Amino acid sequence: MASKHKLDFVDAELEKIKQTNLYRKLRYVNANKVYITINGKKLLNLCSNDYLGIATTKIQTKQLQSSSRLVSGNDESYKKLEKVLSKHKSQQNSLVYPTGYMANLGAISAISNKGDLILSDELNHASIIEACKLSNAKVSIYKHNDMGDLQNKLKQKAKNKFIITEGIFSMDGDLSHLKQITELAEKKKAITIIDDAHGDFSIGKDGKGTPDHLNVEKKIDLYISSLSKGLGSFGGYVASQSNVIDLCINKSKSFIYTSALPSFLVEHSLKRIESNREKQKKKLEKNIIQLSKGLENIGYEVNSETHIIPIIIGNEKLAMEFGEYLMDNGVFAQPIRYPTVPKNKARLRISVTAWLSKADIEKTLLVFEKAYREFW
Ligand SMILES: Cc1ncc(COP(=O)(O)O)c(C=O)c1O
Repeated sequence: MASKHKLDFVDAELEKIKQTNLYRKLRYVNANKVYITINGKKLLNLCSNDYLGIATTKIQTKQLQSSSRLVSGNDESYKKLEKVLSKHKSQQNSLVYPTGYMANLGAISAISNKGDLILSDELNHASIIEACKLSNAKVSIYKHNDMGDLQNKLKQKAKNKFIITEGIFSMDGDLSHLKQITELAEKKKAITIIDDAHGDFSIGKDGKGTPDHLNVEKKIDLYISSLSKGLGSFGGYVASQSNVIDLCINKSKSFIYTSALPSFLVEHSLKRIESNREKQKKKLEKNIIQLSKGLENIGYEVNSETHIIPIIIGNEKLAMEFGEYLMDNGVFAQPIRYPTVPKNKARLRISVTAWLSKADIEKTLLVFEKAYREFW
């Protein structure tokens, strides 16, 4: 009998994941503008979060790495970027983190304390969920965009109350009910935190994001976002009053105990902010209409007005087969499964980008039409 190895439990765990059709594996890709090459096959890329498709600028890798921003990593370029981001969000100050994930972890755990209450939408991103776990506050999850449930849960007693929501929900593409949320927050003196990773730079006037799009920009107390999606660069940031930013610098472990984002990426973000984003945004808006109308005409249910269009399939295995079928026909749209979305709510998540031409979308629609006949 083969002797048992102390890491054998790992195989058992992996086998369980495979049995439930939830196994993930890495594949090497080569993404270039509208195309992605996987296993030597060139596919139309419907999975990029580079929504605006801003043309790539040359970056100078002056210095790769130094140390934490609080030690010797705080390159002069940060000052410029944080000034621009503060203005972009109409806030007193801002702070750049290495990623949006780390911005969520750092800011939410820094601002909330024991005795506080965090109200978090049930569909919030994993980084918000992890940040809530790190905080010492009580966490209360309200049903997705359910204002009655939020109102009820806001009745709980607490020192400070925080409402946390995404702007555009990353796997559903719907908008948070920010008008009602900010009204409830005002009544209950709750602090509003928004993670606008998917709305920032993509919607609102001058790409100011979801709160601007819904006319509540001034009612948000703390913005958290990513530079790696609409802006197509890399990094994360928070924007708020100066004292909140000061607290983040002093308390965020994901800011203090990690190396600074290399300055060439900071400069890259600055270049992209200064680029012609408006032209790309208009192209993106046109593409969203062409693709979503086309999908509806085929018979798909499109419950999104944004650049994130989920095609809900339900069963995990079927979603994987659907994704494979699309790939065989020249289109890459990643199936999304539990735990990213609830069990039996597997889906294809299409991200529309300004990289796509009219002809690319026509080709995509032909493939989806064929898939509809095959799977529906
Ligand atoms: C809603 C949301 N917040 C935060 C993040 C993390 O951003 P980043 O990729 O910059 O770490 C993501 C990434 O997918 C996201 O969807």
